[in-house]
Amino acid sequence: MRLDKFLSQNSDSSRSLIQQAIKAGRVSVNDVIAKKGDQKLLGDEIITFDGKQVEAFQTRYLMLHKPLGYVCANSDSDYPVVMDLIRLPRWQELQIVGRLDIDTTGLVLLTDDGQWNHRITSPRHECDKIYRVTTANPISTDTAELFAAGVQLHGEKAPTRPAQLELISSHEARLKIHEGKYHQVKRMFAAAGNLVVALHRESIGNIQLDPALAPGEYRALTAEEIKSVAP
Ligand code: URA
Repeated sequence: MRLDKFLSQNSDSSRSLIQQAIKAGRVSVNDVIAKKGDQKLLGDEIITFDGKQVEAFQTRYLMLHKPLGYVCANSDSDYPVVMDLIRLPRWQELQIVGRLDIDTTGLVLLTDDGQWNHRITSPRHECDKIYRVTTANPISTDTAELFAAGVQLHGEKAPTRPAQLELISSHEARLKIHEGKYHQVKRMFAAAGNLVVALHRESIGNIQLDPALAPGEYRALTAEEIKSVAP
């Protein structure tokens, strides 16, 4: 890879600033001041910019505790977006792995590994997702059976796949689903004659939202977590 490309991929500086910096002798390769941006790198060189070593970025895998009122998007004209919470270089390259509604809280995964994202969200591999649901009306006793059998949602060709509902109290339950249709949980409860008033995603596959993360906080996934959802 060219030196200027490496620097633009792995620093916050624009290509033109990097060219100026190279001309000004602020960039070194293995302790030798670089003269040209098109200098070829083999990959094992130590690159310094203003005396600081520039490391090659690693692929990133994050879990975020999404707060209420944030849109799962890179930008929005009316509301804050989850990317506003991410203080990392090249945040624009992060993809949201399975979006949540603005009024849903909980686990959101972010990555710049498109294949990993696809493994988790593609209908063929889709992982289980567990939501904690609070409803306006008491959850009727037949709701679990209805969800286990599959619900025909308006505008969908096929009923939902069997889902497991575990009651926590009269108005609260944990729902495990295997798909990610648009507004799926809210639509399933609407089909059962109820209304979701609060929704929180607790897990995706084997990845559980870390209880140490307050709303708005994020952390890198561990190697086991990364492997567990897309082995
Ligand atoms: N189902 C919904 O209805 N909303 C979400 O945000 C996630 C799942």
